[in-house]
Amino acid sequence: MTPRTIAFISLTPGSGKTTACANLAVMLAQMKHRVLVVDLDPQAQATLLLGTAPEAKRSTGAVLAGRQTLAGIIQHTQVPYLSLAAAAPEASDPINSPARAFDRLDFQRLAGHAPPFAFILVDTPTNDDLAQQLALTLCDEAIIPFKPTLTALYAAVPTMEMYVHVRNLRESELPDFLGFLPMAVSSEREMGNVRAKLRQNDLPYFSPIRRCQRLRQPLPANRLQRRLIALTGPNYAATADFRQVAREIVMGAEAARQVAQWCAMTPYPMAPRPRRPRPKPYF
Ligand SMILES: Nc1ncnc2c1ncn2[C@@H]1O[C@H](COP(=O)(O)OP(=O)(O)OP(=O)(O)O)[C@@H](O)[C@H]1O
Ligand SMILES: [Mg+2]
Repeated sequence: MTPRTIAFISLTPGSGKTTACANLAVMLAQMKHRVLVVDLDPQAQATLLLGTAPEAKRSTGAVLAGRQTLAGIIQHTQVPYLSLAAAAPEASDPINSPARAFDRLDFQRLAGHAPPFAFILVDTPTNDDLAQQLALTLCDEAIIPFKPTLTALYAAVPTMEMYVHVRNLRESELPDFLGFLPMAVSSEREMGNVRAKLRQNDLPYFSPIRRCQRLRQPLPANRLQRRLIALTGPNYAATADFRQVAREIVMGAEAARQVAQWCAMTPYPMAPRPRRPRPKPYF
């Protein structure tokens, strides 16, 4: 089984890559897909979010430096079906620059991993375009999270250019652009303009993730896990949104939207049919 490999990219800081990557990974795992999160960001936010302490010896930085293999650093998380290739601050060392080690993070080699992964989600560091290009080179699909303003959409143009550049270099239709992922949406009106612009330019996009107070709060490293609302806040509106986006990833955006619409239309549980009164027997 070949895993689907998805890079979360954006050259805009704070666009929501880590939040989206970690929460969607949990959602996919809860849907019983085996998921590996690869944290390429030396700030290790995704690693911390998934409840793992960064450890230089067992990090993607160590893999890029040739001291470890990718399979060798994979660890389980507390979430069933979810594994992690963690990051650690050491990876920011320029000696370990991703440019030196494109082949060391070869996901194809994980195809034989037992049990096999259905998804590999890659979180990338904003300030390191080489690492983002590496992710785009390694992955077959890409998602661009962004805050839903026209300015943020225009600011995403360099990210799109980088994406097109890598696609041209790969001389293939890959990576496939799955879509823009609107993060922290506070109203339908806010989404309206952005949606019109995306449609006008024929750009794919996912259902929006609503703004969530818990995701806005700055948190210390030891409480960062609260940001994993897919796990810690099952009743949040944003959690339902992450679930919908996870479905859109699994079955394609159009199909998942149709299913959601259909579910909204179908009363559940189905109301029992009213029984016809039996005719009274004559004798
Ligand atoms: N649904 C949401 N509701 C409210 N705030 C959100 C939401 N999603 C993301 N955020 C906010 O966006 C900020 C940035 O998110 P995140 O760290 O995931 O972005 P990033 O692209 O990984 O950033 P970096 O450039 O540091 O890697 C978070 O601190 C959080 O405050
Ligand atoms: Mg991040």
